Amino acid sequence: MKGTSYRTHGCGDLRPDHIGCEVKVAGWVRRVRDMGQFVFLDLRDRSGIVQLYAPKSSPMYEVLRTLGREWVIQAEGTVRRRESPNPNLPTGEIEIEVETLTLLNRSEVPPFLIEDETDGLEELRLRYRYLDLRRPIMQRRLELRAQFLEVVRRYLRENGFLEVETPMLIRSTPEGARDFLVPSRLKPGSFYALPQSPQLLKQLLMIAGIDRYFQIARCFRDEDYRGDRQAEFTQLDCELSFVSQSEVLSIFTGLVQAVFQELIGVEIGEIPTLTYAEAMSRYGSDKPDLRYGLAWEEVSEWASQTEVPFWKGRRVFQLHLAQAKASRKLQEKWQEVAKSHGIPSLSIAQKEGEKISTSLQKFFTAQSLPPEAEGLWLWAAGENLPHAGLGALRSAVIQDLGLKPERPWALAWIIDFPLFEQDEQGKLAPAHHPFVHPHPEDLEYLEQAPLKVRGLCYDLVINGYEIMSGSLRCHAPELQMRIFRLLGFSEEEAQDKFGFLLEALGRGAPPHGGCAFGIDRWIMLLAGGSSLRDVIAFPKTASGSDLMLNAPAPLDPEQKAEILRWISS
Ligand code: AMO
Repeated sequence: MKGTSYRTHGCGDLRPDHIGCEVKVAGWVRRVRDMGQFVFLDLRDRSGIVQLYAPKSSPMYEVLRTLGREWVIQAEGTVRRRESPNPNLPTGEIEIEVETLTLLNRSEVPPFLIEDETDGLEELRLRYRYLDLRRPIMQRRLELRAQFLEVVRRYLRENGFLEVETPMLIRSTPEGARDFLVPSRLKPGSFYALPQSPQLLKQLLMIAGIDRYFQIARCFRDEDYRGDRQAEFTQLDCELSFVSQSEVLSIFTGLVQAVFQELIGVEIGEIPTLTYAEAMSRYGSDKPDLRYGLAWEEVSEWASQTEVPFWKGRRVFQLHLAQAKASRKLQEKWQEVAKSHGIPSLSIAQKEGEKISTSLQKFFTAQSLPPEAEGLWLWAAGENLPHAGLGALRSAVIQDLGLKPERPWALAWIIDFPLFEQDEQGKLAPAHHPFVHPHPEDLEYLEQAPLKVRGLCYDLVINGYEIMSGSLRCHAPELQMRIFRLLGFSEEEAQDKFGFLLEALGRGAPPHGGCAFGIDRWIMLLAGGSSLRDVIAFPKTASGSDLMLNAPAPLDPEQKAEILRWISS
């Protein structure tokens, strides 16, 4: 092949315009079909699929027939019009009549179908990920991911952001997960942590005067894997100086609009804002799936005027579905959901015309319900109604009744999160991370009633997924130290862990804030996938393994002895 090129065109790039042209293509044999009088071969590369053709009279007939699935070949020939076009293929009107064929490499028979719809179980596909990635659907997803990066880079550059890389071997950054640790050879007994996010480094970049920063940042969190979590994932990480919260939201609304428009042609318009308190009381979740309008409404006042004895003096929340019906079995299931989430009482009523069926039968009649309304009601009641329970019930109702989404995309900013939460021992813990700036209106009772204090922070929720999270930060060292103190750090502990930050904040830190998008999650939604593994080239399994590389793996004895020496000194 020295001096000549393997190909003149991508397989998927050939069109009727090329009819009569001599072309060279190279790729993988998708399948060979021997039709008796001639043979067809589908050849695949990243650009698509093209049909090769050889009639029985051609010496190529025998050659094509002998090729196996996934063999790598190069073919030269003339483009001609197909006798029976295939409207489902961009190259469906043409084929290449092969004149010369070169076998570049053989392949074992693949263990599963290399097609959009494959018969391979996920474990097998992860073991042979390079074959899985050869499937056109996977290549389209990687293409979408690359386009995504292009759009965000362009948007952010146009808006004055500078792309800066930060190191992988750092000190622990508290994002609430366990760190992955790397023992140091040169400083035995000391460890690097892999970044859970570049949080502190991007704040230091603001102090450095970078003004607007972004990075496509790899993050590492040693946490349990779920459908929307990987231990190693990618953030679009951003930080800005001299901005208010509303300016941050407006800049990133522009980014989100550009991504939706340019990647999938969807106009999302303005993004509505919900406070954390509203989201929790209406949807029972800080990441509600707003494709469904269904919402809880507090009806305590109405409830206190009914005859229902166990509603007296309690808070009552109502979920009403105008057109729905639920079987007894479903109602029992929802009772279980309510119970397992600590909802003291759940009552259900159904009304059709004048007929009403409910366990509350003896307390009220169809007239007690809004006269025009039909359908299904759920009432959750208690002195204390756990929001998570209301959220779980809402999700169960949506799923069990098979409700259809009212719109394909629902986005919302959730703002005014609490700054702190209480852990199991009653200790204050940061609800997000310890660097969030308290809401200025709540600053005066920071120490007196910390659990009532809101943070200047915001999440972006898309179709029930938390896609981005961010906040304005404490830029005054005194305020940052007040937060550390509330979190139980002594002066010395704070100095030991975050001395570099406190020192830097005291050397001219501008007001600043930022955010990070979980881009695997976002691209998964844009690609219509259901798992982060759909959009990560080499992901890990639920148990954290790379089945292809066979990682993690035991160390060889020498390496192990060496590591143990470093760790224990
Ligand atoms: P946070 O921890 O909320 O914030 O992360 C930001 C976004 O990253 C995504 N994400 C994940 N995606 C896949 N797998 C995971 N294990 C995982 N964990 C998080 C989510 C989330 O919204 N430094 C702060 C951001 C800031 O304050 O600027 C941070 O990392 O989509």
